[in-house]
Amino acid sequence: MKILIINGPNLNLLGLREPEIYGNKNYASLCALIDKTCQALGIDHEIFQSNHEGVIVDKIQDAYGKFDGIVINPAAYTHTSVAILDALKAVSIPTVEVHISDINSRDEFRKHSYISLAAQKTVMGLGFDGYKVAIEYLYGFLK
Ligand code: DQA
Repeated sequence: MKILIINGPNLNLLGLREPEIYGNKNYASLCALIDKTCQALGIDHEIFQSNHEGVIVDKIQDAYGKFDGIVINPAAYTHTSVAILDALKAVSIPTVEVHISDINSRDEFRKHSYISLAAQKTVMGLGFDGYKVAIEYLYGFLK
């Protein structure tokens, strides 16, 4: 089993970025948690981060035939990107959406997710642990 973990814009600034919402731990420590979770389940994985919508679309297209599942935190593109939604629908790779914060209890504009329309499940509000929950769910779904 091989999964792709995609992180969208500004997640590379975790630790620095609005710590009252996203916590004090940096992006490297999120990657370490993802690595540990995948290793414990025996999952082969790749972690990818980009601040650019088209680069994320290219990565999803390129995942076709290479990955069995996707965990994606599209960050701000969650609320704007029909292009990322369409890419996920095009490749039809089982996908779990994850958000560090609870997007339903923040600004009104964060309540709508385009990505949810292509996701098997959405995990939110669990901090970094949400990635563990998302990966474990995807593992159970694909197994
Ligand atoms: C986020 C929530 C989004 O609304 C925001 O734009 C992000 C991060 C989260 O993980 O909580 O960049 O996806």
